[in-house]
Amino acid sequence: MQNRFWRIENRPQGTDFASALALVEEALPELAQGEIRIRNAMLSMDAGTRLWLTDREDGYQPPLPTGAPMTGLVVGEVVASRADGFAEGDLVRAFGVWGALSQVDAVMSGAIKLDPTVEDRRAWFGPLGMNGWTALWGIEETGAAKPGERVLVSAAAGATGVLAVQIAKLLGCEAWGIAGGAEKCGFLTGELGIAGAVDYKAGNVGDQLQVAGGIDVYFDNVGGPMLDDIIPCMNHYGRIALCGLLHDYSSGTRTAPREYDQILMRRLRVEGFFSPDFMDQGERLTARLRGWHEEGKLVMPYDVTQGLENTLSAYAKLFTGGNIGKVIVEL
Ligand SMILES: NC(=O)c1ccc[n+]([C@@H]2O[C@H](COP(=O)([O-])OP(=O)(O)OC[C@H]3O[C@@H](n4cnc5c(N)ncnc54)[C@H](OP(=O)(O)O)[C@@H]3O)[C@@H](O)[C@H]2O)c1
Repeated sequence: MQNRFWRIENRPQGTDFASALALVEEALPELAQGEIRIRNAMLSMDAGTRLWLTDREDGYQPPLPTGAPMTGLVVGEVVASRADGFAEGDLVRAFGVWGALSQVDAVMSGAIKLDPTVEDRRAWFGPLGMNGWTALWGIEETGAAKPGERVLVSAAAGATGVLAVQIAKLLGCEAWGIAGGAEKCGFLTGELGIAGAVDYKAGNVGDQLQVAGGIDVYFDNVGGPMLDDIIPCMNHYGRIALCGLLHDYSSGTRTAPREYDQILMRRLRVEGFFSPDFMDQGERLTARLRGWHEEGKLVMPYDVTQGLENTLSAYAKLFTGGNIGKVIVEL
């Protein structure tokens, strides 16, 4: 059987993905023991995958080799299985391939069967997916946010951020967001009804945050120089839950906050967290997220692109700010 997929030809520079990935067609090998073949219905665009495209060996996972298919989360139907627990027709989510088909080891790809009664399948990439788990864990566990505390989230109008600000609010916190542009800030304070939003493109974030008061928890999706504006706004004994470093992904820079001494002066706790570390908690986290989602308290706007051939422009939105909410490619 032939598969059409995006292959990594070389390391991308900035957001020039077209020079680095090629849409190719190849025959799939026979299904090995333990493998499933998924007909991908949707591809999840996740900013963290940009790190896998660099040649850095010191990341939380090794780089994807050139010549290999581009990897990412997929949702689709099992069309063939030689893995225990998976049968033809099952709806699944797994780390698969940016292609028409994903042929993966069921265990290694983290494949899980999905409840087919969930009406909007896109939710398996949003509130009920990795972004949901990440947002809940980062706010509640790593950030240890308590009711009444003030929580600030960067990249707040993106998939992870949209969920993080809503979860902070649901847990009784005062939620603030940082996003690029008036439209995104208006969405956060209007449709999501959070306490306030700061447009980092409109001026210094630290100055704009003065109206908020001190921050107890900072859910950081961005890193970069913005950290130096935020650290001095942190309350004593505040927590920084380090989720991602969007500022550095395309630029290849490394974040080093100048205000490092304030971590001591203000007795801050800074802790990185990584969703595969708590995959075993997925069922429990999904049950809570699903409850909020079904009550209409946890919403997600979707930015959907049609067609495998348009995947790269959908992906680039994550690094140029072209999206509100979850970016998905439908096949
Ligand atoms: N630790 C984990 O386990 C884990 C799991 C999932 C995701 N993450 C992290 O969560 C973050 C968000 O990922 P996502 O996939 O949900 O993407 P996303 O938030 O849907 O999209 C990224 C958004 O980030 C903003 N952005 C991009 N470059 C920026 C920069 N240099 N400075 C400030 N804002 C910038 C853009 O919005 P603006 O218009 O506001 O600039 C863009 O729309 C990433 O850092 C990712 O690595 C971590």
